[in-house]
Amino acid sequence: MIPHDDIRDVLNESGIGSDVTVYGWVRTARMGKNVAFASISDGSCQENLQVVLNRKSFDDDSLKGLATGAAVRVCGTVVESPGREQPREVHAEELEIIGPAPEDYPLQKKKHTMEFLRTIPHLRLRSGIFGAVFRMRHHLSIAIHRFFDERGFFYVHPPLITASDAEGAGETFQVTSLPLDAVPKRDGEVDYEQDYFRRKAFLSVSVQLETEPLALALGKVYTFGPTFRADPSDTRWHASEFWMIEPEMAFYDLSDSMELIEQFIGFIASYMLDRCRDEIAFLDERVDADVRDRYRMLTEEPFVRASYTEAVERLTEASNRFETRPRWGGGFSSEHERYLAGEVYGGPVFVTDYPAQAKPFYMRLNDDGKTAACTDLLFPEVGEIVGGSQREERLDLLQERIESMGIDREDYRWYVETRRWGTAPHSGFGLGFERLLMYLTGIDNIRDVIPFPRTLGRMV
Ligand code: 4AD
Ligand code: MG
Repeated sequence: MIPHDDIRDVLNESGIGSDVTVYGWVRTARMGKNVAFASISDGSCQENLQVVLNRKSFDDDSLKGLATGAAVRVCGTVVESPGREQPREVHAEELEIIGPAPEDYPLQKKKHTMEFLRTIPHLRLRSGIFGAVFRMRHHLSIAIHRFFDERGFFYVHPPLITASDAEGAGETFQVTSLPLDAVPKRDGEVDYEQDYFRRKAFLSVSVQLETEPLALALGKVYTFGPTFRADPSDTRWHASEFWMIEPEMAFYDLSDSMELIEQFIGFIASYMLDRCRDEIAFLDERVDADVRDRYRMLTEEPFVRASYTEAVERLTEASNRFETRPRWGGGFSSEHERYLAGEVYGGPVFVTDYPAQAKPFYMRLNDDGKTAACTDLLFPEVGEIVGGSQREERLDLLQERIESMGIDREDYRWYVETRRWGTAPHSGFGLGFERLLMYLTGIDNIRDVIPFPRTLGRMV
């Protein structure tokens, strides 16, 4: 590659008068009488670089090539900009059209709807909004590793192919090498002896179960990886391939875990404010969501804690607002969750102690015998961001729970054994990476924070 300058550095670091070479894509171009202007982005930052070309120095053909979408190389000198839009610009001495973009380039200057942009996932990445989102996606990933590394957590890698449905919701994608149009059978049933793993296997819906033994050996661990759910919900908050952060901590109870979640999110918000100033300012202006206020909420105010029972009471008082009526015993629908965080508590709220029967088998039973030591962290607009719990570490109670839920004991033998020797109280949680990114960007559809989203019925 020919040495060149990132536009980010040209805008922030290169001295006035220095010679630079930039490569990038033309956002907009305008032909004046004596000079042509082109606004160029190379993806390195939110701001575009304004390039000024003296028409006398360039032939009309190459200037015509300066069309929206074209890939170009520009060499020139950094000068102070007379315009108010940007502090500096480049006066071009050389222009090369590397990859022309004829007029049918779909991303012309006009504003496009998010729905339209979703039909061109390979090109929408070059727009201002998606540039901001995917740079922020990067910084968010790094912030996550920073936070846990600084606190003595180990980054661990449990398998993505698994034999268990950790959440018990039956939303798994099956992994098989059997030919679906000629499945081998034995006594009328699928003969899994002939399948790749000689048994039924799935893509992981949560790596929690395999992460627990790592915590019970290394103390504090976390995962950050892809998660797959054949979720039947076709909503703005559900993807079938998304990323989850799953920390697991030995000797933490639920309350310790909630404290960690709050510190984690506070750290993330400050880190992002610091690193993504221009992106946040851009999104605050372009997306209808008061993005900046969201950061204030995350960094300045403590999260509320409310029990599930109290939350049901508050929902019941407003039950005529909802499509589905809240009732004690069931989970919340996303309209309930957003109402609780948005209207009732006016900010992030930890709802704790859900009815045990509505939650997976691994959650620790509370002394009341009815509820589990668990929490969902609910955010305004986005709903559930985090699901976490203290794990059932008591061997007899865990076995009873597995029994009563009709789960195949053999599948979980290794999991139960971690309670047979040196069992210890421990807790953990799962944070939906894209849902947090939605909140931090103000983007209201999960499909727009994932480069090539996979959702129910759709794989572009
Ligand atoms: O609440 P969930 O199902 O929790 C678990 O899987 C636990 N085993 C985690 C743990 O304790 N280690 O999922 C955790 C989070 C949700 O709160 C949500 O933010 C996100 O994962 N999530 C999804 N995000 C996008 N699309 C989906 N289909 C999601 N399903 C869950
Ligand atoms: Mg959940």
